[in-house]
Amino acid sequence: MPESITVWAPAKLNLTLDVLGRRPDGYHELLSVMQTLELADRLELSLIPEGTEVLGGPNLPRPEDNLVYRAIEVLREKTGFRGGLRVHLEKHIPVAAGLGGGSADAAAALSAANLLLGLGLTPHQLVGLAVRLGSDVPFCLVGGTVLVGGRGEKLSLLPSAPSMWLVLARPALELSTAKVYQAWDQLGELRPPSTYRLVAALHQGWSEGVVAALSNQLEPVTLRLCPKVAALKEKLLTWGAGKVWLCGSGPTLAALVDSRAQGEELADRARAEGYQTWLTRTRV
Ligand code: C5P
Repeated sequence: MPESITVWAPAKLNLTLDVLGRRPDGYHELLSVMQTLELADRLELSLIPEGTEVLGGPNLPRPEDNLVYRAIEVLREKTGFRGGLRVHLEKHIPVAAGLGGGSADAAAALSAANLLLGLGLTPHQLVGLAVRLGSDVPFCLVGGTVLVGGRGEKLSLLPSAPSMWLVLARPALELSTAKVYQAWDQLGELRPPSTYRLVAALHQGWSEGVVAALSNQLEPVTLRLCPKVAALKEKLLTWGAGKVWLCGSGPTLAALVDSRAQGEELADRARAEGYQTWLTRTRV
């Protein structure tokens, strides 16, 4: 049996995010097409005599708030494994940005620990554990281009989205997902979903249809809560992005560009004005 295993944990992007309403459990019923990006964290899991250790620099959340730590505890609870595990986490995905960084790490930890320890959990069992950790974790276990429903636990594979270069950009502020959903409740505005249009375009292999459907119904809420994000959106459009929409609940925006070269130029401009930026593309 190997003593260690290294895996990548890619970020996710909501190509669409439709909020269908508030559920009795306080969560929101979602319909979204989620997409794996090339931007990824790296995790190395190794066996140690006992306990759970998560290492990775000074900015790591406390164990009780750290989804990798919680993923391993949930796995212990489910399978009763007693051995020790150390996880080295190398972060590349921005934290609290709407890109599912913590969720990607948790999903990678679940599936890598399952392999390393030979626990033999099925994908279905892993998804059952994933949904307890967070709404985006089930998708992160599967990856690709996926239709996601419910609270994030209903998954159907879709044809791959076309390859797209993206600049991700954000002002230096953090935003609580719960606060954005609360503000959505107060706004109480139900809009027609874009997800079905996107699903149809993906099945038809119609790139212009895919681009036309890119959207996020949390965006008006976040732009109202954070005028700095609204200002950034205007700038990205002025600087030539083809389409700009919100990642998850924000505050990061995704800007679609035609090529890596255009992306580098756009990212440089945004960085010169003090925004944090990442250049990436969809993983197909
Ligand atoms: O599941 P996750 O930890 O990502 O969600 C963070 C918060 O966002 C939840 O506590 C909830 O307030 C809100 N949320 C929601 N409906 C969803 C996902 C998240 O209301 N489908």
